[in-house]
Amino acid sequence: MSETARPFAGFEGRLALITGGGSGIGLATAKRLIDEGATVVVADLDASAGERAAAIGASFVQLDVGDPDAWAAAVQDVTEEHGGLDVAYLNAGIMTQPASERGITKIDLVNLPLEDYRRVMSVNVDGVVFGIQAVLPAIAERGGGAIVATSSLAGLLAYPTDSVYAGTKAFVIGVVRSMARILAKQNITINAVCPGGVITNIIGPPGTAERMAERGADLMDPAAIAEGVVQAITSGESGQAWMCQSGRDPERYAFGKVPGIED
Ligand SMILES: NC(=O)c1ccc[n+]([C@@H]2O[C@H](COP(=O)([O-])OP(=O)(O)OC[C@H]3O[C@@H](n4cnc5c(N)ncnc54)[C@H](O)[C@@H]3O)[C@@H](O)[C@H]2O)c1
Repeated sequence: MSETARPFAGFEGRLALITGGGSGIGLATAKRLIDEGATVVVADLDASAGERAAAIGASFVQLDVGDPDAWAAAVQDVTEEHGGLDVAYLNAGIMTQPASERGITKIDLVNLPLEDYRRVMSVNVDGVVFGIQAVLPAIAERGGGAIVATSSLAGLLAYPTDSVYAGTKAFVIGVVRSMARILAKQNITINAVCPGGVITNIIGPPGTAERMAERGADLMDPAAIAEGVVQAITSGESGQAWMCQSGRDPERYAFGKVPGIED
């Protein structure tokens, strides 16, 4: 389903909150939205992200996206300090287990330790649900705005490397598609971005990208995903999954039809 809302009126004078904004895709998107004229608040679990946010002219709030009380406090702080909220980019995410020195390793779902399972669900699933719950009233209060959440190509494809991670990313797409029509009534769009491989800390420590490239991986700069986020927001469309792949412009995924059901 493709829902459309009132065209997005531009980033100038808008307030954007970006989770996981202290690194990688979130940090690149923070930079891009500032360049577009937005005021940006970076929200990250990692306290050292505050310095990186300041270096690009963003504010910082420390937040564990898996904690609903922390979400409520963060949104209250942001709206009190900046007078409102227009855009939320729910981007914080982790793999089920950290990447090794050689890069992302295969995760064995069958023997997955409970704490690893709980951790990835807390960030990738709870972080999106609690995030939507927390930001919606503030965005609605402004008469509308945009929510984007980071999924992955792993949410659209089979990803045997980390099937639990893939499940969390498919969850994001299901939520976005299902919320689009509901949020259109409040003039709020909601979309997912689905990156392929991007050179960030999630894939492993410094040098990992080079080693993966030697093995044939075609990895993107995080700025390419920031472009996908901007297109998702400015398109005015909702309920879409914007694929970001190396060498291609961001493009919407064509969801299939269920036989016998008009959507
Ligand atoms: N890099 C890739 O190849 C790739 C591909 C597809 C999707 N993604 C997704 O992109 C998103 C951003 O990841 P990235 O690649 O920029 O990795 P990254 O590790 O550079 O950034 C992730 C950020 O999230 C923060 N974070 C982790 N747990 C948190 C929590 N509980 N609360 C708040 N912040 C938390 C980290 O501190 C970090 O700053 C993730 O959702 C990831 O799954 C990444």
